[in-house]
Amino acid sequence: MLAVHKAVFPVAGIDTRFLPATKASPKEMLPVIDKPLIQYAVEEAIDAGITELIFITGRGKRVIEDHFDESYEVERVLRARGLQSLAELVHGITPSNVSCIYVRQAEPLGLGHAVLCAQKLIGEEPFAVVLADDLLEGQPPVLEQMVHIFSHYDSSVIAVEEFESEGACSHGVIGGRHWDERVISVSSIVEKPAPQDAPSAFGVAGRYVLMPAVFEHLRGVRPDAHGEIQLTPAIHSMLETEQVLAYEFIGKRYDCGTKLGYLQATVDFALRHNEVHDTFDAWLRQRMGGAAGASGTAH
Ligand code: UTP
Repeated sequence: MLAVHKAVFPVAGIDTRFLPATKASPKEMLPVIDKPLIQYAVEEAIDAGITELIFITGRGKRVIEDHFDESYEVERVLRARGLQSLAELVHGITPSNVSCIYVRQAEPLGLGHAVLCAQKLIGEEPFAVVLADDLLEGQPPVLEQMVHIFSHYDSSVIAVEEFESEGACSHGVIGGRHWDERVISVSSIVEKPAPQDAPSAFGVAGRYVLMPAVFEHLRGVRPDAHGEIQLTPAIHSMLETEQVLAYEFIGKRYDCGTKLGYLQATVDFALRHNEVHDTFDAWLRQRMGGAAGASGTAH
């Protein structure tokens, strides 16, 4: 049975949808309450048994390295002030058995190209790809569910969810037939299709567990109309030689790459956050009770 020890976090995109917030700071560092998106993603991977975190970074992304690095100055000040639990919070972001490796993608040439940058570090092992702007909540965590499916079937696994409305999928859409209640044998995958061309209503959520064969297929992918090499066509090409499964994960997806998804995550997480849930809930109810409509527009 193959185990999954490595995860790739592509964080080298140019983040156009959150400009100007992302002009000098990566979208993966946007916080939902008090934790950046990338930390939620890393914690999910660690819960799934991943011990090697490979970040594909680019211009302006150094702050992600700093976030997962030791921070002696901050810790020293917190301990000197007797704030032990905060010092532990800052210290223990990645456990000692987990290593972080950073690879630079010189140009943002697409998600597929970013994954290809990890090839030498992955070698011949299966690996996970985690897109941090999809914040996934599940119990067990979604990547753990996927590793379980991967180990059971020894096949690449893509996380999917059924979407209801047009444009609900920001990545690819799969076609295929159900094998099991939540497992679909994939027969096609299309990158962001027009609604009439979508092969099904199952859209890809930003989690993959892939066989290393995907690298050979990535090498054959031609750049799209924007000059980017995408991951979706490589997976489509892989279908010719091996089985790929889609898995309807148990949990909830927040598409934090969009303003709406980011706001939904913030509100839901605030309603459960131990410091603020009561007061925020009360404020929200009062606000909703009194709100017939927005009083102004923020630009
Ligand atoms: P997106 O399609 O979300 O693009 O990339 P983006 O640049 O991050 O954001 P928008 O759409 O312009 O707002 C999907 C994932 O692939 C990574 C991104 O960081 C994101 O996690 N990516 C994309 C790379 O690492 N390199 C690239 O060249 C492109």
